[in-house]
Amino acid sequence: MQNFYKTPRRMEDIYRTVRYEQISNRCFPEDYVDNVICGDCISVMSDIPEDSIDIIITSPPYFVQKAYEKSWTIDQYYRLMRDCFVQCFRILKPGRYAVFNFGDYFNGNRFYEADVPSVYPAAINYFKWGRDAGFDLQATRIWRKQFSRMGIPMICNKHPRPTFDYEHIWTYRKPDGTGQEFMNDRKKSQKAVLGDHWTKSGKISSHEASFPIDLPIWAIEVYSKDEQEIVLDPFLGIGTTLFATEVTNRRGIGIELNDEYCKMAYNGIQGTPVRKNKTGKSKK
Ligand SMILES: C[S@@+](CC[C@H](N)C(=O)[O-])C[C@H]1O[C@@H](n2cnc3c(N)ncnc32)[C@H](O)[C@@H]1O
Repeated sequence: MQNFYKTPRRMEDIYRTVRYEQISNRCFPEDYVDNVICGDCISVMSDIPEDSIDIIITSPPYFVQKAYEKSWTIDQYYRLMRDCFVQCFRILKPGRYAVFNFGDYFNGNRFYEADVPSVYPAAINYFKWGRDAGFDLQATRIWRKQFSRMGIPMICNKHPRPTFDYEHIWTYRKPDGTGQEFMNDRKKSQKAVLGDHWTKSGKISSHEASFPIDLPIWAIEVYSKDEQEIVLDPFLGIGTTLFATEVTNRRGIGIELNDEYCKMAYNGIQGTPVRKNKTGKSKK
């Protein structure tokens, strides 16, 4: 069962909720764009036509025992991730980019029967999932978080194991047979890559794992060509990527399984930084 929550770009729609199965004639992009779709991202993406999304920006579940992952087995998690990469590849336009943020390892506690549980490095899996789906890995970056400054313990609660205080931001490209990549305004892209957001911490928020808005804004500035392009986040959480589409004049689609997070995204978007037009005047 999937619900659609309208983002407040059209204020009259704010409180409209539509159940997925109640939409008789689902059309892309009209029934998807500017929506938070509450549902399983694999099912929702399966309905999106191929070669139709301009850029994907997302942070999938980390499989480190967050509340929303606790009941999963490692096999279920791997299947979700494999299916996610396959769908992302299918619906992305050729020559365009998917930006994934992920932690450094999966926690082995629940699937490795040993006194001292093993951790599973994430990067090797992310490389394989991307390649198997058909993507080329285009670039990798590290986001260095400031946990210690935030007072978060650097030793994990149960084991004398350092908590990872950095995360990966990997960009995948869907090949288009030309081997030619587009380059946005070079100065702007350069500024975005050099910004200080690479050492910012995630928001302290009602979500356990949200990223700072600077990260999706950076990805849009470097990897999205034009205003009005369609940005998809299949694991939306509380909606950070959609906030970034508001700021950058893109159109967004967010998918989130957890109904509570969907509502938070929907409410939170009202607190989005106000977009400025070229004269510096507010658009809203
Ligand atoms: C790491 S969080 C994303 C946080 C997000 N970047 C933000 O800033 O709020 C991963 C999210 O994926 C959601 N999720 C887990 N399985 C899902 C699925 N099958 N389909 C859609 N969302 C899912 C979780 O509820 C969680 O909110």
